[in-house]
Amino acid sequence: MKIFSRWLLAGLCGVALPVWASGEETYKAVCAACHAQAVPKSPQVGNKKQWAPLIREGQVTLTAHAYVGVRGMPARGGQPDLSIEAFAEALNHMVNQSGGNWKTPDAKTLQAIQAEVVRRQKSKASKPGG
Ligand code: HEC
Repeated sequence: MKIFSRWLLAGLCGVALPVWASGEETYKAVCAACHAQAVPKSPQVGNKKQWAPLIREGQVTLTAHAYVGVRGMPARGGQPDLSIEAFAEALNHMVNQSGGNWKTPDAKTLQAIQAEVVRRQKSKASKPGG
């Protein structure tokens, strides 16, 4: 019975856990090339001073704006097939290494992020270079 319930628990967790890579994995594969190697102007992971004002923008705004791309920051970290969930996880990892304490966005937060992505894309389209 004990073995069975453990198996059952593992099965349930398997369903509950997201199938995408962990934030740390995505960060290492996609973001670290710039954010851990002092690419000019990119906020460096672990630098609390650089990250404090970004963290203050809040999870919805910062995740959405970075996903769309900001100046030298390529959209989706330069990976066109990177999902918003995977991006948010990678950003959480970066934030949490840099003085913040963000969590995986829940469904409501994710919705707000997606809405902000759409808004941001529209305003970028009408203001090239912004
Ligand atoms: C090709 C280099 C490059 C890669 C790859 C990259 N970034 Fe960036 N990122 C930058 C640069 C440069 C900036 C600074 C942009 C500026 O302010 O001019 C930046 C800025 C940011 C910011 C701050 C945006 C703001 O509103 O000021 C966030 C958040 C961010 N990146 C997250 C990520 C995440 C998450 C990934 C991986 C999924 C990633 N970046 C991958 C270069 C990169």
